Amino acid sequence: MTDEWIRIAAPATTSNIGAGFDVFGLALHEPYDIIEGRKIDSGVVISEISGPGSESIPTDPEKNSVGIAAAEVLRRCEADFGIELRIKKGIRPCSGIGSSGASAAGGAYVAHILCGEMLSPKELVLCAAHAEDVTSGGFHADNVAPCILGGFTIIRSYEPFDVMTIKPPEDLGIVIAMPDVLVATKEARAILPHEVSVKDMVFQIGNAASMVYGMMSGDMKVIARSVNDAFSEPHRAQLVPYLKEAESVAKSNGAIASFLGGSGPCIISFFNKSSHEGEHIAESIRAMYDEHEMKCDTWITEPGSGCRRI
Ligand code: HSE
Repeated sequence: MTDEWIRIAAPATTSNIGAGFDVFGLALHEPYDIIEGRKIDSGVVISEISGPGSESIPTDPEKNSVGIAAAEVLRRCEADFGIELRIKKGIRPCSGIGSSGASAAGGAYVAHILCGEMLSPKELVLCAAHAEDVTSGGFHADNVAPCILGGFTIIRSYEPFDVMTIKPPEDLGIVIAMPDVLVATKEARAILPHEVSVKDMVFQIGNAASMVYGMMSGDMKVIARSVNDAFSEPHRAQLVPYLKEAESVAKSNGAIASFLGGSGPCIISFFNKSSHEGEHIAESIRAMYDEHEMKCDTWITEPGSGCRRI
């Protein structure tokens, strides 16, 4: 048995966003992975992987986040068929903008459609998060949640799992800068401390709470001053050459905030779309890396919807 191919765009996401470690996530309009799937008699087969960094991605479906997430959906739906998958990476692995999360979410989403859309959005997020757990060394859903649900997402609790979404302000523009260095999420998680001080906890709660206020009210100034992190970025800065310089250059050239995207190395800068500063910010970060003889790719984007059929 084979069936028609279903094609899904699974977008990049940025997570943490200052103080929301493993809690906040934001779907980006681009870049995105394309995941294709069709029914087969049984099993999970990955027949093609292409795009940037695809040579490092395992084709074994039990080690590949698309395959793991799709298999989890088939299992939960008690499907009496298998799935063949094709993966076109638009998001390089080890980028800090949810590359494995997009693949996991896309795999879950395509299997969900083939199964007749029996699962709730929350169950779908959990299937994709299961794949993240296997491939990135920690159960975190702050990339797969926005990738499936779209917008700005908040994971209130992992057990029991509770996630909510907020529509981000229309004015929010985003520059992604990806310096030419790889950071594996597993390693970036391994260097984090296991305990935090009361002082840092109070700082994180204050900034996270005000970020939610900013996203809900659309107050870009509140969003800008809430992007602060006393927990993960200070430890991970060592993994990304010239991170602080890039953030500072972005802010001197029109960004309202600039920070490490997820576990890095991407640097995310927020700007007000009405200022039309996106290209200027991107160019200034590229020029800074150029001076240090490092390649840096950039995208100018905005918040986006979650996985969609194309
Ligand atoms: N919240 C996760 C982390 C996201 O920072 O490790 C990884 O992309």
